[in-house]
Amino acid sequence: MKVDMDKIVSLCKRRGFIFQSSEIYGGLSACWDYGPLGVELKRNIKEAWWRGMVRERDDMVGLDSSVLMHRAVWAASGHEEGFSDPLMECKACHQRWRADDIKDSRCPNCGGELTEPRMFNLMFKTFFGPVEEEAATVYLRPETAQGIFVNFANVVDTARKKLPFGIAQIGKAFRNEITTGNFIFRCREFEMMEIEFFVKPDTAEEWFSYWLEERQSWYIKLGINKENLRLQQHGKDELAHYARACYDIQYLFPMGWSELEGIANRGDFDLAKHAKHSGKDLSYFDADSGDRFVPYVIEPSAGVDRAALAFLVDAYDEEPDKKEMRVLLRLHPDLAPVKVAVLPLSRNETLVPMARDVYASVRKCFTTQYDDAQSIGRRYRRQDEIGTPYSVTVDFQSLEDNAVTIRERDSMKQIRVPVAELTRTLELKLSGEPLEVLPPGGKYWLGFEG
Ligand code: GAP
Repeated sequence: MKVDMDKIVSLCKRRGFIFQSSEIYGGLSACWDYGPLGVELKRNIKEAWWRGMVRERDDMVGLDSSVLMHRAVWAASGHEEGFSDPLMECKACHQRWRADDIKDSRCPNCGGELTEPRMFNLMFKTFFGPVEEEAATVYLRPETAQGIFVNFANVVDTARKKLPFGIAQIGKAFRNEITTGNFIFRCREFEMMEIEFFVKPDTAEEWFSYWLEERQSWYIKLGINKENLRLQQHGKDELAHYARACYDIQYLFPMGWSELEGIANRGDFDLAKHAKHSGKDLSYFDADSGDRFVPYVIEPSAGVDRAALAFLVDAYDEEPDKKEMRVLLRLHPDLAPVKVAVLPLSRNETLVPMARDVYASVRKCFTTQYDDAQSIGRRYRRQDEIGTPYSVTVDFQSLEDNAVTIRERDSMKQIRVPVAELTRTLELKLSGEPLEVLPPGGKYWLGFEG
């Protein structure tokens, strides 16, 4: 369904996914805090990326480089010189705009006259050590990529990887964006998941196509509707200073098609620049061919916050339910902040010990919530709204037959399962195993599949 951003923002606040930074002091624009559910969602996104891109591949290794780096890194990479946006200011209301967001040369806020564009560097500056002087300037990194390039030789020397191979990194980045907005879409502090994939120059095009496919299918496997994804090629005038070619994977966000992830062919730009500026040899020796060369780099670069927004928007659904509207997040089980909810039918003291026992055994295996407040219907609705795939209800019959009810979020179908089968059954369902492989107890799932 098409969803307004306001509904996503409101759900995120109401249920504890995302809060405005420094809210009690009036908020800090374009900075966001992830609450108890948001932090789980974000961790799950990063975990799914790390598992798919690093752990399950032979041609990738990980890295965690520091946020603060030598200033020379940013001189060599071209960021000191060229990581800027053209800024225009309204002469009447003094609001500032990115020149490329201006349609008819007037201020979008009040229609006032705008100044000529001037370049504004997006890197946040700070000082290293106690003296606030120009020589002590360092930057908060605007991308994690440079930490990878400056460690290229370290990794080649230690990780025993042959080309083609990649280095992957997840970490914070900071950009002093001129225009912000659209919730967590464009922040001043955000997290990136970046890969620098090093290849022989004559294979770069082939690997570029490979990563375009691979990264789109990652989103689709995690539940994004493929109708809501598309590729958009950058024109020559849109290319970043380092890129030979670039595509955006765009997602149909509530405000329209916008960049979700960028995939660039950076050529040998970065390694060649760092070799020149540092005086260190960053070439690669190919023992098979006897050639020495500077590798080309294919870079799939994704934003964690933007991915979180896309997953939330794509999962959001509303459907009529009796006289009310059921709001649910149809999140992929791997991403859902809570996998299982254990709900005693009531707080009746005869039910509580069994419900607590069930909770204790389930939480060992999955992120689980125990909830005994309000009516069972309201508790199901709450779990639907936060995207919990399965709710387990302990009722009075459970005390007799030692079985519980499992309710599925999307279909709302319910089945009864002996407590002894519960964890295994949930494990199979959460991992998307087909029914045929179920153990004997799996017969309890019959009727659940519609
Ligand atoms: N190293 C390449 C690079 O930095 P980019 O297209 O500027 O490329 C990559 O950024 C991704 O990082 C974007 O596709 C987006 O997902 C995310 N991103 C960039 N700026 C962002 C911001 N201000 N707020 C949130 N995410 C951002």
